Amino acid sequence: MSNPYIGDLIDAVYVLAVIFFILGLRAMSSPETARRGIVQAGMAMLAAVVVTFLTPGISNWAWIAAGVFVGGGAGFVWARRVQMTAMPQMVAVFNGMGGGAAAAIAAIELLTTLTNSADVGLSLAGAIIGSTSIAGSVIAFLKLQGWMRSKPIVFPAQQGVNVAVLAIGIGFGVTSALTANPIWLGPFFLFVLLYGFLLAIPIGGADMPVIISLFNAMTGIAVALDGFALVNGPLGDAGYAMVVAGTLVGAAGSLLTVLMARAMNRSIGNVLFSAFGAKEEEGTTVAGSLKPIEPSDAAVMMAYAGSVIIAPGYGMAVAQAQGKVKELADLLEQKGVDVKFAIHPVAGRMPGHMNVLLAEAGIAYDKLFDRDEINEQFPQTDVVLVIGANDVVNPAARRQGSALQGMPILDVDKAHNVLVIKRGQGKGFAGIENELFYKDNCHMLYGDAKDVVTKLVSALKSTPG
Ligand code: TAP
Repeated sequence: MSNPYIGDLIDAVYVLAVIFFILGLRAMSSPETARRGIVQAGMAMLAAVVVTFLTPGISNWAWIAAGVFVGGGAGFVWARRVQMTAMPQMVAVFNGMGGGAAAAIAAIELLTTLTNSADVGLSLAGAIIGSTSIAGSVIAFLKLQGWMRSKPIVFPAQQGVNVAVLAIGIGFGVTSALTANPIWLGPFFLFVLLYGFLLAIPIGGADMPVIISLFNAMTGIAVALDGFALVNGPLGDAGYAMVVAGTLVGAAGSLLTVLMARAMNRSIGNVLFSAFGAKEEEGTTVAGSLKPIEPSDAAVMMAYAGSVIIAPGYGMAVAQAQGKVKELADLLEQKGVDVKFAIHPVAGRMPGHMNVLLAEAGIAYDKLFDRDEINEQFPQTDVVLVIGANDVVNPAARRQGSALQGMPILDVDKAHNVLVIKRGQGKGFAGIENELFYKDNCHMLYGDAKDVVTKLVSALKSTPG
């Protein structure tokens, strides 16, 4: 371990790792290259962890190896087994773990640096952000898993209480630093964790993905702050690597948060503090009636259409209907129908959910169109087939006073005909009645998405032309 070149080797690997983190992130921005990007960034992280073991002065190898084995093993098994539809809550937990780890590093730093001051501020900030992230991520997990009421939990003077809890927590932290007395760190962590819970409970329903992404960004920032605090200690080089990696996560998470909020036409402040969906919609009566249609009639309608746009949503993911949807699209194209897919950025339950499923089924990327690209085509489209989508096609978003007001939607109601596949009268994630289903040009195909698409496929096969 006394080899004079070991420090240079560690630094070189950290620099290479950072380069591959950046290349990996870049590749993740397109579904075509995302898999490669994840492998690149993952391998870079593995290399960074491995060389950290070579750092002079590291002795408690067994504990570290046990942590890597238990944590890595649990993450591996869970990630292999998770259902696609349960992915958001898994991301929430993994992200929360990052926040928790950052808070734990900050706690150690605080316990060891309370007397030499300079790094205490950084560690306190890292501890606050990391603790808020883990506590908020736990609430996000419980809500998405259905183990806690998903609707926003609100109470009088909520924002005032939240600010007071955070201020008391910071007060304990600062007292601990000023008096160099670790006794205050207990209540400090208690209050900042409580703040994380309180921040997340008024957020529910459709806003959860934005908040998970925000906590992800916060975890990155906490790691970067911890890195700054570590730079002056024996693990200085690892501190630099943490600063860069944390900053990357913080920046990417912040951008994703902003993009998702923009896709819902909301500000981050509105997502955090408006308790969206807390109130039931009152006095909304939807005009029109629900008109069921048989799969055989729907198949004829599509077979003789010039253009069909398929708008998938969460129900397609639940039913795992993407393979059958590909069969349907191929059959329609064989009959000379122009088939496209309309992808809403928050359809499903995670960013890119529909892209991933459709890519898995082998549907070419050039058939997928973003909301901005496809919206102007709906008025000239003969048939739109909505498969298990609800909120993202709800015209209530254009109505003043609706809880969905302002959310950009796919304008499927402007097509000549709309066919909607869903099982029954279930509402979308935001819990709001869908005015589309009652429109004159809309017909309902009731049933599980995979079953209905299977019926459409067999009906199409026996439709001449
Ligand atoms: P939703 O609004 O959640 O609607 C899904 C619809 O699918 C429901 O109306 C349900 O009606 C139907 N369905 C469920 N299982 C089905 C099955 N097996 N077969 C056929 N239909 C089925 O979905 P969406 O339009 O995709 O909108 C997504 C919502 O989730 C948005 O509000 C979004 O903000 C939120 N969200 C998004 C994300 C991201 S990042 N994508 C993450 C979390 C939350 P029935 O019960 O009647 O079948």
